[in-house]
Amino acid sequence: MSSNLDRYERIAPFYDLLDLPFEYSRYRKIRPLLFQGLAGRVLDAGVGTGRNIQFYPPEAEVVGVDVSPAMLARAKRRRLSLGVEVELLQMDVTHLEFEDQSFDAAVATFLFCVLPDDLQVAALREIGRVVKSGGTIRLLEYVRPRGAMRSAVARLWEPWIAWAYGAGFDRRTEERVPEAGLEVVGSSFVVDDLIKLISIRATK
Ligand SMILES: C[S@@+](CC[C@H](N)C(=O)[O-])C[C@H]1O[C@@H](n2cnc3c(N)ncnc32)[C@H](O)[C@@H]1O
Repeated sequence: MSSNLDRYERIAPFYDLLDLPFEYSRYRKIRPLLFQGLAGRVLDAGVGTGRNIQFYPPEAEVVGVDVSPAMLARAKRRRLSLGVEVELLQMDVTHLEFEDQSFDAAVATFLFCVLPDDLQVAALREIGRVVKSGGTIRLLEYVRPRGAMRSAVARLWEPWIAWAYGAGFDRRTEERVPEAGLEVVGSSFVVDDLIKLISIRATK
């Protein structure tokens, strides 16, 4: 975790710029999918610079958490410029300072692909703990593409994204969901065979 903290503190000033091509070519179209039908108290885990903020449903009361104060500072600026009410707090997703079952739903975008393998289940379990039983958890995550060509391109990119973002295409988040005591209720590719929308039900 501390390496992610250091990394995102360092990268925060450039993050939006580095991500801009991907934001416009890929993410903008798929972020709204996360929020379809969500209402009530919603957790945005690993909120980053607040790229999801403009898609928060007006009927939801969102709390965004991130381990990096520098990323949160940017999210706070975005909150101000968009005029959206969202509580932004520094917190590690593996140790959430919230009561059990205190959220109706949770989302995370490109958080699990930056969490190391040994934190995947801890993070899933912790998000599951704070979401009400039966509540929805939705993730947008990169996976390693299956096609030979795309897989080769992903391998070329991997050292850069590992260095810059601490990210990998090889996280097995979906497979680890049952280990965290949760249930996958939907999983589909939303960008080629590269980005998945994973829907999970919190179970107690
Ligand atoms: C790739 S960025 C994605 C940011 C944002 N969700 C988006 O869609 O643009 C990953 C974010 O996860 C945060 N993060 C990494 N490890 C974390 C942890 N253990 N707890 C909370 N946030 C974490 C990073 O600081 C960073 O802001």
